[in-house]
Amino acid sequence: MSEQTDVQSQILDAFNFRHATKIFDPTKTLSESEFATILEAGRLSPTSFGHEPFKILVIQSPEMRAHFRDFAWGANGMMNGSAGQLGTASHFGIILASTAEMMTAGSDYLQRHYRDVKQLPDEVIEIFNNAYGKFQSTDHRVTSEREIQDWSGKQAYIVLANMLTTAALMGIDSCPIEGFDMDQTTRALAEHFDIDTGKWKPAVMFAFGHRASDPEFPKTRRALSETVQWF
Ligand SMILES: Cc1cc2nc3c(=O)[nH]c(=O)nc-3n(C[C@H](O)[C@H](O)[C@H](O)COP(=O)(O)O)c2cc1C
Repeated sequence: MSEQTDVQSQILDAFNFRHATKIFDPTKTLSESEFATILEAGRLSPTSFGHEPFKILVIQSPEMRAHFRDFAWGANGMMNGSAGQLGTASHFGIILASTAEMMTAGSDYLQRHYRDVKQLPDEVIEIFNNAYGKFQSTDHRVTSEREIQDWSGKQAYIVLANMLTTAALMGIDSCPIEGFDMDQTTRALAEHFDIDTGKWKPAVMFAFGHRASDPEFPKTRRALSETVQWF
């Protein structure tokens, strides 16, 4: 087998291995370096304009996870009466998306990001401000609070996808989780996690660990011919 074919089959094996794990084996925890690799894949993800409009909260203490128990139905095994992902995952967390306060073109936050993180000279910062301003006002019309937050959320989902795939390549299970009440989650973040929810809103939750048992159902997908159209 050529080297390239080997890599290709490793990738496809990982995508077939990954499934949305409902219950993890609570006795099997990820090593520090395994989870650090997953986080690093998230941190190094591409984002539109390189704005990095996300933050990853890792929530390990059972007491802190319990704050979501009542309304994170997609993570609490409501359907099968188990402790779900919240109760069994080795690592659990939330990816937050930046709000309009941070991500409106010309914001103080973005000026600092261009200067201190991207280390851009003033003349390039001006180009970025103009291009991103046009992107928001005209090209994509991302102007309302909700639209800007959703745009940040799109970037957060790229981070999520890279974390899931990285885990699968290491033989680690995962679950992406959108099954939660937005308002109650936002309130919990403000009350119990000291998050400034004027700046950050929840986008999506994640769980990592090792499956307690094999998936109940085989993976199903639409046929490639229905998913892809060539011209
Ligand atoms: C953004 C997103 C949110 C999801 N939210 C949940 C969730 O709250 N709880 C859950 O058990 N699965 C959740 N899933 C898993 C999907 O139901 C699952 O990926 C889909 O049914 C395909 O199955 P597979 O991932 O096992 O191949 C979510 C998936 C994605 C991509």
